[in-house]
Amino acid sequence: MTKILVTGGTGYIGSHTVVELQEAGYEVVIIDNLSNSNIQVLDGIEHITGIRPDFVEGDVTDINTLRKLFTDYPGIKGIIHFAASKAVNESVKKPLLYYRNNITSLLNLLELMPEYDVAGIVFSSSCTVYGEPDQNPIDETAPIKPSTSPYGKTKQICEEIITDTIYAGAPIKSIILRYFNPVGAHPSAEIGELPLGVPQNLIPYLTQTAAAIRDELTIFGDDYNTPDGSCIRDFIDVVDLAKAHVIAMRRMLEMKDTDKLEIFNLGTGQGLSVLELLESFERATGVKVPHKIGPRREGDIEKIWADPSKANRVLGWKTEVDIDDTMRNAWRWQQKITPT
Ligand code: WQD
Repeated sequence: MTKILVTGGTGYIGSHTVVELQEAGYEVVIIDNLSNSNIQVLDGIEHITGIRPDFVEGDVTDINTLRKLFTDYPGIKGIIHFAASKAVNESVKKPLLYYRNNITSLLNLLELMPEYDVAGIVFSSSCTVYGEPDQNPIDETAPIKPSTSPYGKTKQICEEIITDTIYAGAPIKSIILRYFNPVGAHPSAEIGELPLGVPQNLIPYLTQTAAAIRDELTIFGDDYNTPDGSCIRDFIDVVDLAKAHVIAMRRMLEMKDTDKLEIFNLGTGQGLSVLELLESFERATGVKVPHKIGPRREGDIEKIWADPSKANRVLGWKTEVDIDDTMRNAWRWQQKITPT
């Protein structure tokens, strides 16, 4: 069995990816510091797949922890690197935390990979690297625009670090995946998103409002240059997204030495407005969500959606889950975790 290290594997996208890796026959070792996740996620993974992944509680920014991990779990062939801080607002207030966490962890992995014969790394990046696009849908050749947040900058810098390392001849391969807006939960409701505190992202705020944990959802602006005035995003189901990682891992491990770095956009290719997403949730679940229109949120991009045709063609991957099903899964998960 091919052994894969998943950093941040108890997190939201990480846990869904561990499930898909295990179901595809990979052996998984997780490292996570549990800063934004919960050890019980391992139970959820085990309930779905019947396999409890190996787990190391630790920090990828600590190179000695990593050395010990590679020694204790020999033969790791590939890494999927999710572990990172990801709150845009927090990054503006605590830039050093973001630079240290997100960059040091990648440096440590890249440094140790040749030493422990790890062939490749799949890197978790974001459409945030494109900033406000000149046109939509956006493909991988679009320009990288200056990012407005330290979080976004860490993703851009990490992509450059990987690129420079590989072009300098390091004996490793990489696939960089730029996600659009991941939403939803596993249909089993065994795993899903577990936001800490007041959610900043749309779907957890919406589902918490539907569950009466929050009074009202605020739609941040209805005066954008879009058909209904609210922002447009490419909402991608987290299970579809997780499956893309398995395909990327397989492809990366089979890659010839000459093409050692590839970049893919992962999205549906469909732009959906914030108001359309709310409609989808209400239609799919039959639950009404109290909401009001508020002012624009600073730093928001008006509209962005993916051209995923490179991933469709080269990876043979495309999204499958319908948005209404995604909303039903998000709601089922929220109901499961809502305290009664
Ligand atoms: C989506 C839309 C909001 C909350 C961010 C990061 C990105 C990525 C995912 C990940 C926007 C609107 C939101 C609310 C609202 N990073 N909204 N009311 O900003 O597209 O992307 O998360 O780790 O890098 O920038 O996602 O879910 O915050 O917002 O109206 O209470 O929903 O204005 O238009 P965003 P989001």
